[in-house]
Amino acid sequence: MTQFNDTELTAAVIKSFEQTPNSRARFLLQELVKSLHDYVRKTDLSFEEWDTAIGFLTRTGQKCTDIRQEFILLSDVLGVSMLVDAVNHRDRDGATETTVLGPFYVGEHKVTPHGSDISADLSGERMFVQSRVTDLGGKPLAGVPVDVWHADQDGFYDSQRPSYATDGPSSRARFVTDADGRFHFRTIVPCSYPIPTDGPVGQMIMQTNRHPMRPAHVHFLVNARGYEPLITHVFVEGDKYIDSDVVFGVKDELIARVEKRTDPVMPDGKPADGPWHLMTYEFHVKPGGGLAPAPLGTKATEDA
Ligand code: BEZ
Ligand code: FE
Repeated sequence: MTQFNDTELTAAVIKSFEQTPNSRARFLLQELVKSLHDYVRKTDLSFEEWDTAIGFLTRTGQKCTDIRQEFILLSDVLGVSMLVDAVNHRDRDGATETTVLGPFYVGEHKVTPHGSDISADLSGERMFVQSRVTDLGGKPLAGVPVDVWHADQDGFYDSQRPSYATDGPSSRARFVTDADGRFHFRTIVPCSYPIPTDGPVGQMIMQTNRHPMRPAHVHFLVNARGYEPLITHVFVEGDKYIDSDVVFGVKDELIARVEKRTDPVMPDGKPADGPWHLMTYEFHVKPGGGLAPAPLGTKATEDA
């Protein structure tokens, strides 16, 4: 047959993938065709609308660089990233909840001594972060690399600043847990910020009258050997956008109280030079494996 009605067309395209050698790839492609064809039929998609969609996807691709991933952003704002996260983490068994990686896991996470101020060059309210990594039974895990990154007071990540190429990382580091599974560092209290609105995805958010904001958070990637890599955030309790994150990434268990303190001494015994804040959070990881994602623009390694 050389001519199809619309239902026969779907069947013919599905059949055309029958010889795909990899059975999982065959399944994924055939299901994609089914869903896409259903969408076109349900919406009676016009040529003009189809052309708009192609133009949007083309601009999304064109906006991507080594350190900017507009497609991840699209997946995030459509809730696809959180859905992939959900179907892959159905049984947590007490492990810390996961959330989106986001598009700003870029560049170097240099191993940094405990207690360092990773935002020493930035203004903002000072914050002391103390944390611990354990297994599901509460046993501390030593020697675990933990990557952290967050936005500055203007709501930008270091990699979004032109100075990134010359000045290197800021508010971004790697800590390695001590014998008791602990690590601590100094930084600033993060603030809520908009996803990038200078590209097609941000423009789509604005044109659809959604707000572009993410509630304040610090990203953590806990990568213990022999355990599932844990990709998560700790959110700041009380943030205005905690219930309306543009990427749907908030989970109750990931919200932490950030206490305002006036003690003259911080938890590591060093003097405070004014009021400060304390964030405390413990991560529990689940036995398993898998490679942690490589920062954008780099290659995957065993502990990156
Ligand atoms: C982030 O938290 O860095 C982020 C996540 C998803 C989209 C945009 C930003
Ligand atoms: Fe973020």
